[in-house]
Amino acid sequence: MELEHARTRIEELTEMIEQHNYNYYVLNAPTISDYEFDKLMAELIKLEKQFPQLASPYSPTQRVGGEITKEFQTVRHRTPMLSLSNTYTDTEIRDFDQRVRKTIGNEVEYVCELKFDGVAISLIYEDGKLIRGVTRGDGTQGDDVTANVKTIRSIPLRLKGDFPSQLEMRGEIYMTHAEFNRLNQEREEIGEIPFVNPRNAAAGSLKLQDSTEVAHRHLECIVYYVLSDSLKYDNHYDSLMAACNWGFRISPYISRCKNIDEIFDFIEEWNKGREHLPFDIDGVVIKVNSFRHQQILGTTAKSPRWAIAFKFQPESVSTRLLNISFQVGRTGAITPVAELEPVFLAGTTVKRATLHNADIIASLDIRVGDYVFVEKGGEIIPKITGVDFSKRPPSSQPFTFIEYCPECGTPLRKNPGEATWYCPNETGCPPQIKGRLEHFISRKAMNIESLGEGRIEILYENRLVRKISDFYKLTYNQLIGLKKVYPATDKTPARVVSFREKTVENILKGIEQSKSVPFPRVLYALGIRYVGETVARKLALHYHSIDRLMQASFEELILVDEIGEKIAESIVKTLHQPEMKEIIEELKKAGVQMSLSVEEKQTQGNILAGKTFVVSGDFGSAERRREIEQMVVNNGGKLGTSVSSKTSFIVAGSQMGPSKKQKAIELGIPLLNEQEFLDLLGKSHP
Ligand code: IVH
Repeated sequence: MELEHARTRIEELTEMIEQHNYNYYVLNAPTISDYEFDKLMAELIKLEKQFPQLASPYSPTQRVGGEITKEFQTVRHRTPMLSLSNTYTDTEIRDFDQRVRKTIGNEVEYVCELKFDGVAISLIYEDGKLIRGVTRGDGTQGDDVTANVKTIRSIPLRLKGDFPSQLEMRGEIYMTHAEFNRLNQEREEIGEIPFVNPRNAAAGSLKLQDSTEVAHRHLECIVYYVLSDSLKYDNHYDSLMAACNWGFRISPYISRCKNIDEIFDFIEEWNKGREHLPFDIDGVVIKVNSFRHQQILGTTAKSPRWAIAFKFQPESVSTRLLNISFQVGRTGAITPVAELEPVFLAGTTVKRATLHNADIIASLDIRVGDYVFVEKGGEIIPKITGVDFSKRPPSSQPFTFIEYCPECGTPLRKNPGEATWYCPNETGCPPQIKGRLEHFISRKAMNIESLGEGRIEILYENRLVRKISDFYKLTYNQLIGLKKVYPATDKTPARVVSFREKTVENILKGIEQSKSVPFPRVLYALGIRYVGETVARKLALHYHSIDRLMQASFEELILVDEIGEKIAESIVKTLHQPEMKEIIEELKKAGVQMSLSVEEKQTQGNILAGKTFVVSGDFGSAERRREIEQMVVNNGGKLGTSVSSKTSFIVAGSQMGPSKKQKAIELGIPLLNEQEFLDLLGKSHP
């Protein structure tokens, strides 16, 4: 077949397959048999192999996966992904309605939807093509999981109809009960641990490195929110209906409500109806329909004021409490764990449940031997909510909390006003030491992949590492030949792990590479209590170096945006400990980044504050385009999706859309090429 002919046939096949996918996955109404569908697909695969230059990244053949993502890129959301405020009571729904009516008046209309229990996703489309899929992450930035998202058949790769050229869809990726059961059965057969619930299975699948494997997991996606600067609709409901015409799957269980009674009818219907759904929901979402009303109501830092989630009461069962054991965490916190007589709850067998802290045990008067109520409210670990006193054995004794650390025997302590007991032996208590080492090497910290939990255990047992800076003193001769014998358990045979040449080389290479991990992540890796990734980034950008951060007083720290008293106190206390000072000195000596690089300081400026940029066209690669977008944000600028009077600059690559160009000229908005944009930041081309 000649090239032109192949091109036409590929386009024909693509369109047919897309239409059949839509019929099957979105409309749930297939018009051809699986066999006929497979034949069309096979023809397309063959043609694309024969003419690789014609294979498009948006081709339906992409659905089978193939791409491996070693590490997911972090991407900043153009608009933060907020969460919803939750309620469990009718009163709070009434209060919400009252608040809305007070601002909007009585003409308000609501849309009630199901609250899907999966993983939130943001899908970016440009000119109708799926450019990117990003997880929610911390709401500000998430992981780029595009390759995996492309395997989900209810997510269109190309849109149809009258869609806006710049579009972001938000929705939920989830797994049906049927697929969850199939997957778990398969995992048990191959000796892998089954997933706890469909939500975890969906989340775990979306983060797999091999997209072919994701394609096998049969994830589903429904969209529940449309974002675009050029929407033709003035309300949520109509925009969702339009999205369905563009090729998205929307929930069929959606209802417009005029008053609180209609809202309660919807809640009641689904509180009962949920057990018949083929997937999990954990509540109902109530949204104000009109976009204008949404805008008037606005948002808080965390959630919109125009929406609320009503969460269903979780399922509960009663079982016997056999024992209470204790876990010691990385920060020394002691968590009591209930050992339960195994019981079936919401799809899984429960054997353990967290008891949180001593106060909770005391306030519920929980005793070993009691029958207790166990609930699973969407959490991974179930919790105990009460005691069935009618079944309490007469001989039962009140539970007394332990006074000494179960791991190192040190007397436990508690801070005034806090409920958690902790072991103060930070430098001598094994789970605390190992926990800090594990945190240091973890992916979001120093990302030393060649060292895992098992290997750290070996290093620890051989007394080679105690503090995080010890990693940088390890030598080849110390590591080679180290081994550990794991005895057989009832599930696994005995095995020996030993460090051979290749392993040792990899470990040392991983440690060496970690020396170039940027300062914000190093700061996070230090494992200061309450200093998570976001706080670490904030602090690094504010103080630029560990030395300056160490000089900061409590009073200074609390002036920094988003740093509260608890965090400030923990920073001052930790950074002034002699052990920590020594560690920091050693890390510096080893060459670990203890300050921002000149480049980072420059790029984290505010030069573009108050300016809105639209990045459009081709920059050689999708990666480069993302970098440019990231530079805008890092320098305090905002990203716009479509050209409007609010746009300050357009960064134009080659093949920028002619209509956009025209609009820019009409509005007198300056067009910058890549170099001109870099000049603006005072950078040279990479
Ligand atoms: S709307 C700005 N609608 O619930 C509002 N969210 O805590 C954005 N969710 O992260 C959310 N079903 O993952 C919305 N019909 C629905 C939903 C839904 C499930 C999830 C979503 C979000 C979380 C909110």
